[in-house]
Amino acid sequence: MIEEMSATFQELTAMNEELENSYKEIERVNDELESAYLDFSIKLSKVAEGYDENTGNHIDRVGILSAFIAGKMGFSREMVYKIRHYAPLHDIGKIFVDRNILTKNGKLTEEEWEEMKKHTIYGARLIGDKPHFEVARNIALYHHENWDGSGYPYGLKGEEIPIEAAIVHLVDVYDALRSERPYKKAFTHEEAMKIIMEGDRRTKPKHFSPKVLEVFVRCEKTIKKLWKKIYQ
Ligand code: C2E
Ligand code: SIN
Ligand code: SIN
Ligand code: FE
Repeated sequence: MIEEMSATFQELTAMNEELENSYKEIERVNDELESAYLDFSIKLSKVAEGYDENTGNHIDRVGILSAFIAGKMGFSREMVYKIRHYAPLHDIGKIFVDRNILTKNGKLTEEEWEEMKKHTIYGARLIGDKPHFEVARNIALYHHENWDGSGYPYGLKGEEIPIEAAIVHLVDVYDALRSERPYKKAFTHEEAMKIIMEGDRRTKPKHFSPKVLEVFVRCEKTIKKLWKKIYQ
């Protein structure tokens, strides 16, 4: 009897090991798939950035700075990881926006602007609604929502805006200000901080989550250094 039980036990152990191994294999393939998916998405995002060489690096900067802010705000490692890897997809919807609009050298017409704003909705549609990609979707869909409700596409307000999108919103504006665009010159760190903290015609401090803004301003020296280090 004992012998029989012991044999069964050994058999079970072996089966369990086999299961564990195939589980590990599934996990490995899953990780590989996810990393291939991310890699592909990031390449697509670079294409989306107006097909413009100098914005390619923007994609990585937004991921790194957003993860830095999320870390300072005390989010879990998993959340910081997701923000690091999904923030770069924030503008992926721009691949559906007419190239002539994206690279226009000057102010957009009313009609062009309406189309431009849809990059948020196009991005969310592309990412889809699988729970696994909720953070990616939230960032793409809500990164132009303003804390005071004046943003797009929905005019969400305050805590209605997922925090990951609120972080990427501020980082995106900072990075856009620091960078040259077909329609603007690049600003220095000090000029960008002045616009963010005091506002200008287009950007107001009340557009940003007060918590995110507080961390951003508190850590501005590190942000300036980080940005410089990743800028190419
Ligand atoms: P983007 O160039 O990546 O800019 C991201 C965000 O940074 C902008 O979101 C805006 O909040 C901020 N930003 C960029 N440049 C400036 C600036 O010179 N001053 C201030 N105060 N803020 C700035 P926004 O406005 O929702 O625009 C979304 C996207 O629409 C932009 O992404 C860009 O691709 C496009 N866009 C916006 N305005 C123009 C324009 O005048 N001409 C063209 N061709 N595209 C534009
Ligand atoms: C995943 O869950 O790892 C992503 C696979 C997918 O939903 O497409
Ligand atoms: C802080 O955490 O208070 C800012 C320090 C930094 O710039 O990293
Ligand atoms: Fe955007």
